[in-house]
Amino acid sequence: MAPVTNTRIIFRAIPKDWPVLGEHIVCDTSSTIDLEEQPLDGGVLVKTLLLSPDPYMRGRMRDPKVKSYIWPFILGQPVDNWTVGIVLRSESEKFKEGDYVVGVIPWASYNVMPASRLEVIKNENHLPWSYYIGLLGMPGRTAYYGLKKIVDLKEGQKIFVSAGSGAVGSVVIQLAKLRGAQVFASAGSEEKVAFLKEIGVDRAINYKTDDLDEALEEFGELDVYWDGVGGPTLDIAFKHMKDFGVVVICGLISSYNDGENQYGIKGFIIGDIVAAEGGSRAFDEEVGELVKQGKIKYKEHYTKGIENAGQALLDVLKGNNFGKPVVIVADK
Ligand SMILES: NC(=O)c1ccc[n+]([C@@H]2O[C@H](COP(=O)([O-])OP(=O)(O)OC[C@H]3O[C@@H](n4cnc5c(N)ncnc54)[C@H](OP(=O)(O)O)[C@@H]3O)[C@@H](O)[C@H]2O)c1
Repeated sequence: MAPVTNTRIIFRAIPKDWPVLGEHIVCDTSSTIDLEEQPLDGGVLVKTLLLSPDPYMRGRMRDPKVKSYIWPFILGQPVDNWTVGIVLRSESEKFKEGDYVVGVIPWASYNVMPASRLEVIKNENHLPWSYYIGLLGMPGRTAYYGLKKIVDLKEGQKIFVSAGSGAVGSVVIQLAKLRGAQVFASAGSEEKVAFLKEIGVDRAINYKTDDLDEALEEFGELDVYWDGVGGPTLDIAFKHMKDFGVVVICGLISSYNDGENQYGIKGFIIGDIVAAEGGSRAFDEEVGELVKQGKIKYKEHYTKGIENAGQALLDVLKGNNFGKPVVIVADK
């Protein structure tokens, strides 16, 4: 078989503020791969099906000298993140042709991966494969373990969730409601606010047009603020905390393009919790069952084509996504 184009999304330059497509992130079509002859060195040839643009990827577009909880992207190499793919060939006994796999994989149409970096997706309940990079993947785990390990939310408590319509926020909200909490949530459009109401939020506001301070005053003192954004929302939430209330710093997306984090507050990193737990079994069982029973509503935001993956990543940073961003690279 003749070699085919291996389209890749390359990290070309370190952005100072907003990344620019074609300057910091570029789509490269100059590489080819021979799908039959490409040596595997004991590994697995994976065809990319679904990519996951996630906000934390902005923090990986940095100078490697700057320390962080996560390794930086390498200049001149494809960016990488949670991805669903299908095995085309394998020299590992753990994988066979046709297996669906998930792992942190470079953003390229095809990759040869070491077996240790992949997991087979069993998908016994025949759910959409994209759930394994969202609801049943890293964002879902963040919501579940954050609520369980960092907050331990109790029935009747009041929680405010910002970035409420997103992949993490929407799951936090629904798990909090299942625990009997009273939930206040914010999002950046009327459409997103309507979705917040649909998933059971007691009071939902559009933070771009409504007065957050006033609305929180009416809602009453908060036991918990789940922060997905930082910035002015965090400042206002602080004013409404009960004594000894808990502020969970999950993410500070509003300042990801501002350089230094101005708050000096420590949050939690989902990878650390999963490592400390020795895996995500409790999450897989508990949330897997809720999803199977249709008890969690979930929204996805699709982009077609790997060549549009860079734009999809910028869109999540700018809030242009409504639901978990998924880039559909191939059907099978
Ligand atoms: N701690 C961890 O281990 C961990 C793991 C996963 C995610 N996170 C963090 O959790 C947060 C949510 O992640 P996600 O994957 O669920 O993303 P998401 O909520 O699906 O998407 C990000 C959303 O943030 C909102 N946003 C963007 N800029 C904003 C601004 N300046 N002010 C207020 N809101 C803004 C936008 O929604 P609006 O239209 O509503 O503004 C956007 O849709 C992020 O900060 C992420 O980094 C942390």
